[in-house]
Amino acid sequence: MPRRRLLRAIDGETLDTPPIWLMRQAGRYLPEYRATRAEAGSFLDLCYNPELATEVTLQPIRRFGFDAAILFSDILVIPDALRRNVRFVAGEGPQMDPLLPREVETLDPSMAETHLAPVIAAVARIREALPDETALIGFCGAPFTVATYMIAGHGTPDQAPARLFAYRHPDEMDALLALLADMSAQYLIRQLRAGADCVQIFDSWAGILDEAGFRRFAIAPVKRIVAQVRAAEPGARIIGFAKGAGAYLDFYRAETGVDVVGLDWTVPVAQGRRLQADGAVQGNLDPLRLIAGGAALEDGVDAILAGLGDGPLIFNLGHGITPDTPIAHVEALVRRVRAR
Ligand code: CP3
Repeated sequence: MPRRRLLRAIDGETLDTPPIWLMRQAGRYLPEYRATRAEAGSFLDLCYNPELATEVTLQPIRRFGFDAAILFSDILVIPDALRRNVRFVAGEGPQMDPLLPREVETLDPSMAETHLAPVIAAVARIREALPDETALIGFCGAPFTVATYMIAGHGTPDQAPARLFAYRHPDEMDALLALLADMSAQYLIRQLRAGADCVQIFDSWAGILDEAGFRRFAIAPVKRIVAQVRAAEPGARIIGFAKGAGAYLDFYRAETGVDVVGLDWTVPVAQGRRLQADGAVQGNLDPLRLIAGGAALEDGVDAILAGLGDGPLIFNLGHGITPDTPIAHVEALVRRVRAR
């Protein structure tokens, strides 16, 4: 079988039309997702049900024929495996028991392998069900981003609780991030062995850190994951997405060891082109252009194709798709990217 298009781009090839997938491509903007979600019970029930997780992973592939599927799960299954009482409250986002500095040493990762077994079962099942040409992406959250939810106990606009925890208790923060990195590395290795073609590490909140903080709390733990994954699976392909990281992206690939650098929509074309000198980039359409549609969508797509399309590119949004996105706009996006 020829190498899947997504993997050719990850390996540094410039394709005539870039491979395309969308972060959060399985989700509430799809009526078939809402139906399966209602059948599953809670959001976490859906994540741990291999049959239904497979179904929602395949839904956007059936509709749009993306070049890659992404495992349906969530970055917060890791704190859930640590028994932090994770729950997803409708309209309020994720919640869990806030973590105190003195609790870090009591965290016990020994149940994670059993707890996450249904997710690994889903990976194998999804690979089985996918068309041959479609790549399968596994993922985890980067330790810092996962830690922000664990420390605050919920999402916050500025991650002040996690930043204060890191400044006041740097040793406990390092210990927490190392524990999460080791768990995440094992989790990614199991996803790759079960059939994932590549993995993405989501660091959605890394961009909120100052430079010293970024190096210590974002780069170091991601580097630790990459090293462990490559030691176990030497050919592993890894995408790193550090949202809002701006100029830090100039050293992100070299210092973490990821293959592909994900770009949010604020990353300028010139910086993206510079980053392409060392490998593929992924992104970076503003998800709100996809909601708006029409000229806003077309201009956004054309600017990315013109600016980054002559180098190794994986077309994506600059962050996840949102529930209010019209399906017709996603269809128009795929048509336009493929018409290049
Ligand atoms: O991309 C995909 O289609 C795969 C599945 C996926 C989900 N979450 C499903 C989900 C992935 C890759 C994630 C990653 C994730 N989860 C991140 C990193 C990427 C990002 O968006 O920044 C983060 C920070 C989370 C944590 C999380 N999960 C939040 C903050 C929320 C609530 C916000 C919201 O959109 O409601 C979730 C819930 C969640 N994860 C949903 C989905 C489809 C919606 C829950 C539902 O169906 O009720």
